[in-house]
Amino acid sequence: MNILITGATGFIGRHLVRRLQQEQHAVTVLSRDGTRASQLLGVPAFDWDYATQDVPAAAMQDCQVIINLMGENLGDGRWTKARKHEIYASRILSTRKLIAAAPESLQAFVCGSAIGIYPGSGDDLYDESYTVPGQLSFMQSICHDWEQEAARIESKGIRRVSIRTGVVLGHGGMLQKLLPVFKLGLGGPVGNGQQWLPWIHIDDIVSVYVAVALDARYQGPVNAVSPNPVRYREFAAAFGNALQRPAFFPTPAFVLKLALGEAAALALNSYRIAPKRLQEEYGFTFKFTDLPAALADLFDKTGAARQDIAP
Ligand SMILES: NC(=O)c1ccc[n+]([C@@H]2O[C@H](COP(=O)([O-])OP(=O)(O)OC[C@H]3O[C@@H](n4cnc5c(N)ncnc54)[C@H](OP(=O)(O)O)[C@@H]3O)[C@@H](O)[C@H]2O)c1
Repeated sequence: MNILITGATGFIGRHLVRRLQQEQHAVTVLSRDGTRASQLLGVPAFDWDYATQDVPAAAMQDCQVIINLMGENLGDGRWTKARKHEIYASRILSTRKLIAAAPESLQAFVCGSAIGIYPGSGDDLYDESYTVPGQLSFMQSICHDWEQEAARIESKGIRRVSIRTGVVLGHGGMLQKLLPVFKLGLGGPVGNGQQWLPWIHIDDIVSVYVAVALDARYQGPVNAVSPNPVRYREFAAAFGNALQRPAFFPTPAFVLKLALGEAAALALNSYRIAPKRLQEEYGFTFKFTDLPAALADLFDKTGAARQDIAP
């Protein structure tokens, strides 16, 4: 397959490109810095500034699948007005432009989304049948509008899937931020630690993307989380255990809110999410359903990586 990927230089993208290369697919990349992306990933890459340019036509030639992962990182600091705009526009406007440029050869449009589309509180278990209400939080509105924008491609008769991704465990993302603290033995629960954390191992999220890209049965929103979410308190204990470090130091919610403002929601919200469609409709098999096993696969007891791709 000829597969075009945006955001390919990121945490998920780097692993996904490597898997697709191993499976002999022809990968092309759109990046803010095509030269860097090409050197990093070993695939052809084109420069694209989504805010000022249309998608370069050459990148779309003979493209059969687009996988759209790009977007300003939500976890890189406070959500200032300018960052909120960039978080939103780098996902919604880029998706609009990719769809406008979709070639005749295109068979599937696979787009990022997140569990942030769900309410983010309490113990209720949510699956893809949840109806998004009228009043939305910032995270809900990003995910909702991203999915709505991606769904527009269906009017061209092209299959669309939005991957509602949970917290990806690997050498990047949330664990990369937490690792130094936990290695010092200063990790622990955040807030009251009762909030649900819908994790997924990096190998499994990559397998989800590959399955969705290649298998025409997949359509619409798909929750990409392991079948066994844990409470944050349990996660902190398991991570401390994997590194053989104590993990008793709580971070009170108000400290996080002072440090991060509204972005503290990323750690404090509670998401108990089921991968209902993956398991019941598509028969997807997870490699990791047990959190300690997932963590042991990623880190040795010193916190060193067991597997990685250099950033
Ligand atoms: N990792 C997770 O746990 C997680 C959870 C839920 C949802 N997701 C979603 O899945 C997607 C991929 O996640 P990830 O963790 O791999 O992301 P990531 O590591 O932050 O990488 C995203 C990529 O997007 C591009 N990008 C970043 N800021 C941009 C901006 N302002 N304008 C245009 N392009 C920009 C960059 O590629 P170039 O520099 O090459 O342009 C970057 O490598 C994201 O959209 C994310 O929201 C991830």
